This record gives sequence, structure tokens and C-alpha cells, in this order.
Amino acid sequence: MCMATIQKGRSIRRFVKKPVEGEKIDSLIEAALRSPSSRGFNPWEFIVVSEPELLEKLSKAKPGGSEFLQNAPLGIVVCGNPEKSDTWVEDTSIAAIFFLLAAESIGLGGCWIQIRDRMHDYVITSEAYIRELLFPHDINVFNIFRRSV
Ligand SMILES: Cc1cc2nc3c(=O)[nH]c(=O)nc-3n(C[C@H](O)[C@H](O)[C@H](O)COP(=O)(O)O)c2cc1C
Repeated sequence: MCMATIQKGRSIRRFVKKPVEGEKIDSLIEAALRSPSSRGFNPWEFIVVSEPELLEKLSKAKPGGSEFLQNAPLGIVVCGNPEKSDTWVEDTSIAAIFFLLAAESIGLGGCWIQIRDRMHDYVITSEAYIRELLFPHDINVFNIFRRSV
């Protein structure tokens, strides 16, 4: 990671429909797994999504600010577990930033999509909507990361 990566990094919301190479996905996951967490509790889980139908459904997690996910070849759902650590929000945010900076450093672009404390509609939270799609038990869906070329 160098200053140029940080200086160049922007939120990217337009994507080329081309699958992300497996090695690049591995690098992104490695970066997040190496992110620091309070007391090393690592209270997160990462769900890699590349199926277009699922990305399209995830893009509807909230009324605005997530629609561009339907055109992305990859999404990473970052989940945090409050039962594992009281600093799960901080730890998960750091992991998400590691995703974004690692992506930038290997020529990919992405954008944070806020899910925590957002609503899918007047009744259902964005988190409940995504949980229903992905069925992760006892995990809070935190945000979604995407990439571009
Ligand atoms: C906590 C957080 C939540 C964000 N949520 C969204 C979001 O839901 N949708 C979106 O398009 N961008 C989202 N962003 C991206 C910001 O809008 C973006 O970082 C900001 O406008 C600065 O632009 P830049 O990243 O291109 O420098 C989020 C960023 C952060 C840090």
C-alpha cells in the first residue's frame, strides 16, 4: 500500500461486466483477513457474491445508494458479529477499508454501500432483507463492497 493508492482511490459506481479473477478475489480477502481488530477477535464474516441474479437482488437492499450493485461483477457482503466483540463496528469498518484500498492497489474499483441502520422499505431493514437472501445466522450485515475495472 502506498500514498499513490490512497491519493488515486475514489468511490467507483460504474463497472465493466467482466468477472473478477480468482487471484484478485483471494487478494481482497487476504487483505481483509489481515486487517487489525480489537484484541484480535476478528468479529467479521465476508460473503463473496458473483451471481448476477443475487447481485441484482442485493442492489435493492435500500431505495437509493445501492442500485449500481446490479451492474457489478462482484459484491462482498461484510458482516459483523456483536456477540464476538463490542468493537465490531470499528473492526468491520477497518476490514471494509482494507477491501477498498486493496482493490485500488490491484487495479479494481469499488464503493461502500451502507447497510447498517438503513431500511429496505418502511417495514423491513436493509439488514433483514439481505439476511433473508443470504441466511447468515447471528451475523449483522454491515456493508457491501463492489469492484470495477
Ligand atoms: C460509512 C460510509 C457509507 C457509505 N455509504 C454509501 C452508500 O450507501 N452508497 C454509495 O453510493 N456510497 C456510499 N459511500 C461512499 C461515499 O459516498 C464516498 O466515499 C464519498 O462521497 C467520497 O467520495 P470518494 O470516495 O469518491 O472520495 C459510503 C462511504 C462511507 C465511508
